[in-house]
Amino acid sequence: MSVEMDVKAELKKRADEIEAYLADCLRARDIPERLLESMEYSLHAGGKRLRPALVLTFARLFGASGTKMMPFAASLELIHTYSLIHDDLPAMDDDDLRRGKPSNHKKYDEATAILAGDGLLTEAFCLMFSCGDEGGVPAPRLVRAAQAVATAAGSGGMVGGQALDMEYTARAGVSFEELRAMHAMKTGALITAACVAGALLAGAEPPFVRRAREYGINVGAAFQIADDILDVVGETATLGKPAGSDERQGKTTYPSLLGLDASRELARKRAEVAVAALDGIDHPEADFLRALSRYIVERVN
Ligand code: IPE
Ligand code: IPE
Ligand code: MG
Ligand code: MG
Ligand code: MG
Repeated sequence: MSVEMDVKAELKKRADEIEAYLADCLRARDIPERLLESMEYSLHAGGKRLRPALVLTFARLFGASGTKMMPFAASLELIHTYSLIHDDLPAMDDDDLRRGKPSNHKKYDEATAILAGDGLLTEAFCLMFSCGDEGGVPAPRLVRAAQAVATAAGSGGMVGGQALDMEYTARAGVSFEELRAMHAMKTGALITAACVAGALLAGAEPPFVRRAREYGINVGAAFQIADDILDVVGETATLGKPAGSDERQGKTTYPSLLGLDASRELARKRAEVAVAALDGIDHPEADFLRALSRYIVERVN
């Protein structure tokens, strides 16, 4: 079996474990029926579950039990899913397909989609904090990890990156540096927070938390470059979202600025920097992280 197949199977195994937890994680809450239905519609539509998988992998790498960290890990998928629902709205990327199904606002309506996103974002923090008293994660660790996620998801992170994305759409002359910084915020920040939070929850020492951050920053960059490439070369049926959306919207992307080959090369480089951040760490979870980083860019080569 090729390395690529191994990673794919391993990622799927981890995604299934997360899926099982996500299945009823909103059910304990008293959520109006249609709102709950729309939140679950997007949450249960599939997805690679990359961000929760990163939380669990970094937690396990530094000695924590994955099971205890599951609510925290799942909370990142709620935040990510909210960002996708809002990203697809007519006022943003105006995309009608997500995770192989009609986008939330197409299946329901815009107001419901906005509120489903708001609901998922807020429920994420309820879930996250349930790791404390009920889950047995020491409060100081939990607070630092939650702070990392809140900072990354907020206006100086993902939301800020999405605002820049909107500002740059259809604007001529977006520079490479502007694009790089926008990617780091809109996608890199949450992926980095997943890695850092996993390390913090497990009580990793600061030098190792820094390595987790370095890994996340670079995997996040490779991941969004790959996403931009797939928007050009991928097919709607396999992507589960509309191919060619970036060009239609007049987005500046890595392929539009540098071309496909230079974008692929840059994605490979960032993936290797991520791998180097884990240098000398001899652990099966680190092996998975190294393979995952390479897999993210192999998909577009
Ligand atoms: C898509 O994220 C949006 C980006 C930040 C590029 P994913 O590619 O992780 O989407 P799902 O969760 O697998 O659907
Ligand atoms: C979205 O980037 C990043 C988010 C924070 C949701 P894109 O707009 O490229 O994501 P897709 O391609 O629609 O999944
Ligand atoms: Mg977008
Ligand atoms: Mg989009
Ligand atoms: Mg995209």
